[in-house]
Amino acid sequence: MEKTILSGIQPSGKLHIGNYFGAMRQHIRMQEEGDAFYFIANYHSLTSVNEGKKLDRFTKDVVLDYLALGLDPEKCTFFAQSDVPQTTELAWILGCLTPVSLMEKGVSYKDKVAQGLSPNIGLFTYPILQAADILVYNSDLVPVGEDQKQNIEICRDLAGKLNFTYNEELLKIPEDYIVKSVAVVLGVDGRKMSKSYNNTIDIFDEGKTLKKRVMSIQTDSTPLEDPKDPETCNVFALIKLFADEIEQKDIAEKYKAGGYGYGHAKKELLALIKDYFADAREKRKQLEKNMDYVFDVLREGGKKARERAETVMEPIRSKTGLFRSF
Ligand code: ADP
Ligand code: TRP
Repeated sequence: MEKTILSGIQPSGKLHIGNYFGAMRQHIRMQEEGDAFYFIANYHSLTSVNEGKKLDRFTKDVVLDYLALGLDPEKCTFFAQSDVPQTTELAWILGCLTPVSLMEKGVSYKDKVAQGLSPNIGLFTYPILQAADILVYNSDLVPVGEDQKQNIEICRDLAGKLNFTYNEELLKIPEDYIVKSVAVVLGVDGRKMSKSYNNTIDIFDEGKTLKKRVMSIQTDSTPLEDPKDPETCNVFALIKLFADEIEQKDIAEKYKAGGYGYGHAKKELLALIKDYFADAREKRKQLEKNMDYVFDVLREGGKKARERAETVMEPIRSKTGLFRSF
């Protein structure tokens, strides 16, 4: 039987090239490899975005980004998390089996609070909602970056707990599937690219904004005429993501030969980024003019996702003794 692949991405701001190479590209590739479910994790974003208009805008942006970059609704089920209320229902049931001490071990909560996010209960129990996302579709594989490893372990733990408590295989325990194809993408300041560090180059940045971001990449102060080491340069690290092998070799030679400044490298990077996302940029503009189609995609995806979720929830309601009069 075809494996169910599931992953989600939060709509909490513009998506950047770290998100693309670290997560989205793999999602798009994997739609060819199984029965893929991809969703916009808008319930999760409520943990940090508390302005309705903003969350709505971010959600539509992520939908447009994914479709423009090649997610194909004919090949996968693409939907918004809030279109599947069974998710929060399962999250509550799982929460009633989750020891507080398990959440207290969560590194991501601590990281986010350290970065200035409000320490709300939603943020604290984020991994339980994520577990529900995964389990409510009987997922087999969950392609995520290394940073999500603990959340997937918690998910497996909670599925086991529910099955054990009710003495029945009500939830499928997903395989650990960490995508390792890309190391961490670095931001313009050389730290991990992240919207919380304000060091991103966004996928759909254009014109002056894109140029300004690329030109702001931090480099050392080796003079233009001196040879440079490409392997220690932030600009070259990004060039490697966009250039093919021949182009990479060619640029590396120029670094080593000297007479080639970081400004030159940045210009090459800028051209590479423009070229790499040119088709997606065009497609996104077309999609933006056709929002009816975009909503149809979400409606269809949501319907399919709800149907699947209901088949998992129905026996759980019955086994847990939850009363329903409709
Ligand atoms: P951010 O750090 O900007 O808030 P998220 O935590 O929302 O990004 O990450 C969404 C997805 O993108 C995750 O699967 C994560 O693994 C991936 N990702 C985010 N930043 C990077 C990066 N700099 N390099 C590689 N992958 C990344
Ligand atoms: N926590 C994930 C992230 O920040 C997003 C997410 C929410 C997710 N629910 C999920 C990923 C379920 C995979 C499966 O990137």
